[in-house]
Amino acid sequence: MGYIVRPIRRDEWALLEDFLYEAIFVPDGFEGELPRSVIHDDPKCRAAFEGFGTLPDDRALVAEVDGEVVGACWVRTTDEYGHIDSVTPSFSISIYKPYRGRGIGTAMMSRMLDELLEAGYTRASLSVQKENPALRLYERMGFRIVGDGADETEWLMVRDLCGHEISSATLESADAIYRLVQTTIHAVYPDCYDPAVVAAFSCLHSPDVIRADIAAGKIFILKVGDRIVGTGTVKENHIMRVFVLPEEQGKGYGTRIMDELEAIAARSHSAAVLEASVPARAFYLNRGYRVAGTQTWEIEPCDDLPATTLVYEVMEKEL
Ligand SMILES: CC(C)(COP(=O)(O)OP(=O)(O)OC[C@H]1O[C@@H](n2cnc3c(N)ncnc32)[C@H](O)[C@@H]1OP(=O)(O)O)[C@@H](O)C(=O)NCCC(=O)NCCS
Repeated sequence: MGYIVRPIRRDEWALLEDFLYEAIFVPDGFEGELPRSVIHDDPKCRAAFEGFGTLPDDRALVAEVDGEVVGACWVRTTDEYGHIDSVTPSFSISIYKPYRGRGIGTAMMSRMLDELLEAGYTRASLSVQKENPALRLYERMGFRIVGDGADETEWLMVRDLCGHEISSATLESADAIYRLVQTTIHAVYPDCYDPAVVAAFSCLHSPDVIRADIAAGKIFILKVGDRIVGTGTVKENHIMRVFVLPEEQGKGYGTRIMDELEAIAARSHSAAVLEASVPARAFYLNRGYRVAGTQTWEIEPCDDLPATTLVYEVMEKEL
């Protein structure tokens, strides 16, 4: 199905009222039809469309199929549900039902994000019902949860536009993630571990393991432009494989990755756990982790390297 994404025309501004109605999440099992009055009765809903075109940050794109507008994605900076401050435009998006799940939402959002970046905005925000499947789309587009929205049924999400973004890794990134992890291990670990331990860490993060974790949706990447400079993995509340390229360390990227992984862990657990490497130990302690115990890793002999034993710390942080 062919579609185009283009800026909204002035004579189409009024359509946003209908697209806001479509954007309201109706949970499974909801009987009947949502009354249209909901968007008029609620001032925050009204703020998302009323007077569109009159505020300085108002921007909208529409998707067109066979000459008909089937979706809209727009931003405003005003007191609506996704509003966080006076310099951060917040997103609304919806597509008519028959056209959902075909990539149109992704295309509209990424174009809008490009436009906002180009126009010099540093952040964008949105709010989404926690049960809305659109949450997955937003995470893929680099939005991260920063807390509850207007109430505990909603997430408030933010997307940084200042040059770097965190997103869920896809299989296309598998080789780049593997190289990043191996480069960092071989650059940093020899200062703290003997060669047999370095080799064991290297084997632990094999291409197959990385692919499997990506397929399970567990790996996140931090990109600067098109380049992946850092990565981290979270399984339930277990944080692992946090690496930032050696030349990119000390710029706050590790902090951004950990903020993201901890926010994900916090959705279902009250504490995060990790196995601390020696070089990252101080970083984790600074973030409020404490040593919860030690574990022993018996490393088999491999190639010319002898068997060895590594004792490492398990750390925990309340979220
Ligand atoms: C959310 C929405 C704009 C996404 O546009 P789209 O063209 O369907 O999205 P794409 O095809 O580019 O991407 C697919 C993603 O859209 C989301 N999605 C797909 N169908 C959806 C639906 N019926 N309801 C909500 N989100 C949906 C999912 O996140 C999906 O990702 P997944 O495949 O990992 O589950 C569109 O589905 C929609 O209009 N949904 C209803 C309105 C809504 O919930 N708006 C957001 C309010 S915060």
